Amino acid sequence: MTLPPFQTVAIDLAERSYDIHIGSGLLCLDAMFDGLPRATSVLIVSNQTVAPLYAATLQASLGQRYAKVLLLALPDGEVHKNWQTLNLIFDALLQNGCDRKTLLVALGGGVVGDMTGFAAASFMRGVPFVQVPTTLLAQVDSSVGGKTGINHPLGKNMVGAFYQPLRVICDLDSLQTLPMRELSAGLAEVIKYGPIADLQFMDWLELNMDRLLARDADALAHAVRRSCEIKAWVVAQDEREGGLRAILNFGHTFGHAIEAGMGYGAWLHGEGVACGMVMAAKLSERLGLVDADFVARLKVLILRAGLPVLGPVLDAQDNAGRYLELMRLDKKSDAGEIRFVLIDGASKATVRGAPDALVREVIDACCRV
Ligand code: NAD
Ligand code: GLY
Repeated sequence: MTLPPFQTVAIDLAERSYDIHIGSGLLCLDAMFDGLPRATSVLIVSNQTVAPLYAATLQASLGQRYAKVLLLALPDGEVHKNWQTLNLIFDALLQNGCDRKTLLVALGGGVVGDMTGFAAASFMRGVPFVQVPTTLLAQVDSSVGGKTGINHPLGKNMVGAFYQPLRVICDLDSLQTLPMRELSAGLAEVIKYGPIADLQFMDWLELNMDRLLARDADALAHAVRRSCEIKAWVVAQDEREGGLRAILNFGHTFGHAIEAGMGYGAWLHGEGVACGMVMAAKLSERLGLVDADFVARLKVLILRAGLPVLGPVLDAQDNAGRYLELMRLDKKSDAGEIRFVLIDGASKATVRGAPDALVREVIDACCRV
């Protein structure tokens, strides 16, 4: 049998190294699962939107090598990324007699991927898992690097574990059914790689944004591959975010505050990140790290991707105060000091604090009034 062309990005993490396969028609290829540990059962974890679209194809591929292929469709949405939904995965595993060799396969976006990864990290103290991301955001970011977890009502992704998948399979065809708003949200995480790591990639995005929005297969393949290469390069140096990895959170400090402050699901993660990148860039400018032209250029690119550049008002009385309150919960905070990912316009990012008064000014300038 001739395999369709696909590209592979390797992520080098010693004994936890794995491959990210990127291409078209990969879901129906049982060869994608070559070399994974033997198991009698597999549980595909998906959601009620994605399962009807892609689970049967994946079940058929997996059924060629695993005796029992089970499917669990979780409720869809960021609002369900919590303990109650996580428990549905443990219920399914235990009710079906799964053991510590059972393979978990996450089929869906970042919500399904993060929860399935956390379930894999903790069920029987760890079972193998594979990521099959079906959103652009998940293909370029959340399925790679081993961050797993759930939200807490008080903060985003507050409970979780670092736990690497054994493989990531990005079937670009699945992006064809993605709602436009979700495609744009994924582009936010693609755009972030430019200012923090690769200005040539930012140039390429400026030239190819229309092709990406039109879901051109070659353009998507390049964007996913380059994003994964950059993420793999960062994670290989700092798997557990002792330092460098924090740059991947460009825009996320403000973005997570928007997501939590608006109520999970009201703003998509990528939308919060998009707006957060504008705020973080503006803060970098106010600190003298980057010039206004670069901030304007980034803003235009974000707008062209169909993403918001103005933040919502989280509190009519003291909007900036509410942002600050939520951002103090950020995992990068150090002894109560909020730390921001800041850029220099030459693809270098730094992580540091900033005076509250300056942060307030930036929030005031970047929010709808
Ligand atoms: P999502 O998982 O909610 O998916 C977005 C929507 O698209 C959902 O309604 C989903 O059902 C639907 N969908 C998925 N694939 C589809 C397809 N092929 N066709 C049609 N519809 C489809 O959201 P997301 O943007 O993929 O992920 C966001 C989550 O990822 C957030 O919870 C965020 O915190 C997390 N995240 C994690 C990391 C990490 O490193 N672990 C990085 C970035 C983001
Ligand atoms: N998305 C940020 C990280 O994986 O570190």
